[in-house]
Amino acid sequence: MKIALGADHAGFEYKDRIVKILRDRGHDVLDFGTHDATAVDYPQYGYAVGEAVATGQAERGIVVCGSSLGIAMAANKVPGIRCAPVNEPYSAELARRHNDANVIAFSERLTGWEMIERMLEIFLETPFDGGRHAHRVEQLFEFGDDQRSRTLKDLEKGEVRDAQTPTDLVGVPTGD
Ligand code: RB5
Repeated sequence: MKIALGADHAGFEYKDRIVKILRDRGHDVLDFGTHDATAVDYPQYGYAVGEAVATGQAERGIVVCGSSLGIAMAANKVPGIRCAPVNEPYSAELARRHNDANVIAFSERLTGWEMIERMLEIFLETPFDGGRHAHRVEQLFEFGDDQRSRTLKDLEKGEVRDAQTPTDLVGVPTGD
């Protein structure tokens, strides 16, 4: 698999370890840095990994910062990116199964290395369940002007409705 990686100064050590693991396993790695503890700005690394995945240069992305939060926020600014910040394995599994996460964000300051290794494995090996989750994932990219005015109308009414997508009209399992 072709995988893009990026980290700031608070995440580069884990990022470098992950790069080594992935290369040893034969993955094609795009490493955008950073490579040492000199302070850098995490958004730039989140954007780079996000763009690499969104443009198809990489199939998946992995980002690391101190908390996993800022670099995930940055990656999620790139259209087409579904980046999940995770710090335990079940969230990593759900991020793939339900949300089809194409980028994962790890925390070097808050998460132990053994946990990272388990979550890395899960991120690489777990498929997307599709089915009822597919049209919800599609909706994640519908937040344009139309969706915004719809949401504002819902807010005025004090009630939120499900989206009327073609999938809804033919009937999808509900309740979960
Ligand atoms: C850097 O000190 C830290 O703010 C950064 O790595 C990250 O945790 C931001 O969300």
